[in-house]
Amino acid sequence: MLDVQALSKVYGKKQILKNLSFSVKPGEVIGLVGENGAGKSTLLHILATLSKPTSGSVMLNDQPYQTSIKKIRKQIGFVSQDIALWEEFTVKENMIFFEKLSWNNKNNGELKQLCNDMKLNKWNETVKNLSGGMKHKLNIAVSLIHEPELLLLDEPTAGIDLKSRKEIGSYLSNIATVQSKSIIYTSHDMDEIMQLCDRIYCIGDDPFYFQLLQSYGKNPISL
Ligand SMILES: Nc1ncnc2c1ncn2[C@@H]1O[C@H](COP(=O)(O)OP(=O)(O)O)[C@@H](O)[C@H]1O
Ligand SMILES: [Mg+2]
Repeated sequence: MLDVQALSKVYGKKQILKNLSFSVKPGEVIGLVGENGAGKSTLLHILATLSKPTSGSVMLNDQPYQTSIKKIRKQIGFVSQDIALWEEFTVKENMIFFEKLSWNNKNNGELKQLCNDMKLNKWNETVKNLSGGMKHKLNIAVSLIHEPELLLLDEPTAGIDLKSRKEIGSYLSNIATVQSKSIIYTSHDMDEIMQLCDRIYCIGDDPFYFQLLQSYGKNPISL
């Protein structure tokens, strides 16, 4: 379980995150929404151990981030807003490359299966020839090689076609249910957020998303 207590982040004189507290259980899918600049990526970076909070604490399965960073990293998968792949290499070559860097050993059959489970049936295709949706799927597949229990995704479905969005959404729901993964992800697509998420957190001062979700009969939580 992820437990965040009184987390704040200040950049210079600007307070981005103010005293956030929440927890996420295995199998839960959490949506994180807010206007541009609200601090969604900042929060995900902190949860991914890539940035430190100014104050407050984060724990994963009772292990504090400050003292157990190596252990914590093995349990986290992070997909940033930008695609981080080798464009000149095939899907297969990318998967094998990132497997070598990961803590987990997976054979080629298992790596291919991971791609197929995401409906990324392009094993021998060069990445630069893939559609945006396929690249996003591969980016997510790479983040899952080491079998993390917490998956953090920053706008994994932004700017891609509807079919890929739906496939990514149902894959995420499935691994949360079947493999008890905890997932926190950001999106501006409220239909998708409402369909996929067990809980929705709104961050930032602008009440737009909060009110919109309430008008759809949802109970968003303001962080
Ligand atoms: N490394 C940094 N140094 C200074 N300010 C930053 C840094 N990273 C993000 N910010 C600022 O923090 C705010 C939140 O950014 P971000 O977390 O990227 O928002 P979101 O993902 O919700 O659009 C923005 O005002 C951004 O300019
Ligand atoms: Mg962002």
